[in-house]
Amino acid sequence: MDDLKGKVAVITGAGNGIGRAIALAAAEKGMRVVLADIDPARVEKVAEELTALGADVQAVVVDVADVVSVGALAEAAYAQYGKVHLLVNNAGIAYLNSAWETPLEVWRRMMAVNLDGVVYGVRSFVPRMLEGGEPGHIVNVASAAGLVTSPGLAAYCASKFAVVGLSEALFHDLRVRESKVSVSVVCPSWVQTAITSVGGGDGAKAHGDVDVVDDIAKGARAAITEAVRTGIPASDVATQVFDAIAADRFYVLTHPMTLAGVRIRTDDILGTRPPTLFPILPPPRAPKPPKPAQPA
Ligand SMILES: NC(=O)c1ccc[n+]([C@@H]2O[C@H](COP(=O)([O-])OP(=O)(O)OC[C@H]3O[C@@H](n4cnc5c(N)ncnc54)[C@H](O)[C@@H]3O)[C@@H](O)[C@H]2O)c1
Repeated sequence: MDDLKGKVAVITGAGNGIGRAIALAAAEKGMRVVLADIDPARVEKVAEELTALGADVQAVVVDVADVVSVGALAEAAYAQYGKVHLLVNNAGIAYLNSAWETPLEVWRRMMAVNLDGVVYGVRSFVPRMLEGGEPGHIVNVASAAGLVTSPGLAAYCASKFAVVGLSEALFHDLRVRESKVSVSVVCPSWVQTAITSVGGGDGAKAHGDVDVVDDIAKGARAAITEAVRTGIPASDVATQVFDAIAADRFYVLTHPMTLAGVRIRTDDILGTRPPTLFPILPPPRAPKPPKPAQPA
C-alpha cells in the first residue's frame, strides 16, 4: 500500500510506546488516525499531540481483550471515516516469571490482551476492509519472543508465538484470495517503552506487581528492564513498520540479533536438539577507553 495521504489508520495501544510512535508517523504521512487505548488519559494526551501537528484524529478508549469493546472501536472508526486502510494490532502487556509461578490470572490476561486482542481486531475490521475493495494493510505487533524463547517469558512467549502463527495463516488466507489487503508481523527485541512498568488494566500486572519470584526470575526481570531501558527508540520501529507497508514485507525483525536466534532455533529443531538458551540480552557495551594521561 503506498500513498498513505488521507487514508485511515486504526492503532491499538496508541497511548504510549510503539503504538504512539506509529501514530505519530502515520499522522506525519497525512493519514487520519484512530487512536485506541485502555488508558483514557494516555490516549487523550496522544490525541492532543497529533492534533497540535494538524492531524485529523479520533481517540477511543478500548480494552482489546473485550470483544464488545473492539467491535465498538470498529463502529466508531467506520462511523467517523467510512473506511479503514491500516489496522495496527499493537496493544500488549508483558510479565516475567517462571511458567509455574506466573499466576493463572496473569496467564489468562496475557492471552486475552496479546492474542485475543489481535483476533478481535482481525474479526472486527478485516471483513469491512475487504468489502471496501481498497488496498489495505494489517500490522500485528508480536515480538522477538514470538520467534525465540527465553526463561521467565513462558506466558509472553506463548501469546507472541500465537500472534506470529495467526499472522502467517492470515497472510495465506488473504493471498489465496488475491486480496488487496496485506499483512505484516512485527517482531521487535528491546524498545525503549513502558512495557516493563505499565500494566494493561484488570489483572494485567507489570513486572513489579507480583511478590513470589525466585532469584533467577528476579535477575531476568532486572536484566530485561535494563535491556528495554537501553533499547532502540520506538520511532525506529515505526519507521521500519512503514517501510514494510510500502514494500509489502511480511516479517519485520527490527533487531539483527533476532535473525541469529531464529537460525539457532531452526537448527535446534532440524537437529532434534533441545532449545539453545539464546542470549536474550544485547552484548555488554565495550568499556570506554581510558582518557589519555594529561602531560604534567
Ligand atoms: N518494548 C519492547 O521492548 C517490546 C518488544 C517486543 C514487542 N513489544 C510489543 O510492542 C507492543 C507495544 O508495547 P510497548 O512496548 O509500546 O508498551 P507500552 O506499555 O509502552 O505501551 C502499550 C500501550 O498499550 C496499552 N494497553 C495495554 N493493555 C491494553 C488493552 N487491553 N487494550 C488497549 N490498550 C492496552 C497501554 O495502556 C499502553 O498505552 C506490545 O504488543 C508489546 O508486547 C514491545
